[in-house]
Amino acid sequence: MPILVDRVCKDFGPLRVLDDVSLTIEDATFVTILGSSGCGKSTLLNMLAGLTPPSAGRLTLDGSNVTRPGPDRVVVFQQAGLYPWLSLRDNIAFGLRMKSARSIDWARVDELIEVMGLKGFENHRTYELSGGMQQRVAIARALVMRPRVLLMDEPFGALDAQTRHTMQQFLLGLWERIRATVVFITHDIDEAILLGDRLIVMSARPGRVALERVVPLARPRHWDMTLDPEFLDLKRQAMAILAA
Ligand SMILES: Nc1ncnc2c1ncn2[C@@H]1O[C@H](COP(=O)(O)OP(=O)(O)O)[C@@H](O)[C@H]1O
Ligand SMILES: [Mg+2]
Repeated sequence: MPILVDRVCKDFGPLRVLDDVSLTIEDATFVTILGSSGCGKSTLLNMLAGLTPPSAGRLTLDGSNVTRPGPDRVVVFQQAGLYPWLSLRDNIAFGLRMKSARSIDWARVDELIEVMGLKGFENHRTYELSGGMQQRVAIARALVMRPRVLLMDEPFGALDAQTRHTMQQFLLGLWERIRATVVFITHDIDEAILLGDRLIVMSARPGRVALERVVPLARPRHWDMTLDPEFLDLKRQAMAILAA
């Protein structure tokens, strides 16, 4: 039982943002958390990352309390947050360099460059990369650490619609290869259902788990599945919660 969120509440002063949230996130599953803006999604992810503590309840990874950030839980944010003075290759290697400057696994870095479709851009700086490429660098920079869990906070939220679709397809293909544990946050219903093995829908503030469902779609996933009756049925349930 890798990740357990057990009756977690979070208050900011008098404001209750998350109320009695309990979740189990199994190994090698892609869990999407869907909720409207302000329902506490980022707060929940930041707690999983160990960036902020819960006000009540607890979060555990393999039975140990999550109390601080660690290389086993890497976050990809909406903004890629690359270092503009570093090349693409050095951006991806950044975390490895922090761990040990002398023993960077460059073969791993170059493998990820290949997997991410970034070959030929190794020496490019951030300003020379498109938004989609920057997010792929951010994902590579996270995966290079071989994290137990990849935490993604609306990673495609700042991209235009077309690039977003491309990146969703890309992430689906990538996940088929790596089968990592992913917690993916979004306010986009189609994205949440298309990507996830399991869908968690949160209610508006205070955020609570309003719906939890296994996504009844086979893998590999394709965009045309957004028209399947199973997809639309789940979408209707999710919409009812988001509109409430
Ligand atoms: N550090 C903080 N201090 C005070 N209020 C915060 C803080 N972080 C988030 N909030 C509030 O908590 C609520 C949920 O925020 P957030 O988790 O960012 O929502 P989401 O990611 O779902 O849009 C918002 O009302 C936000 O203003
Ligand atoms: Mg957020």
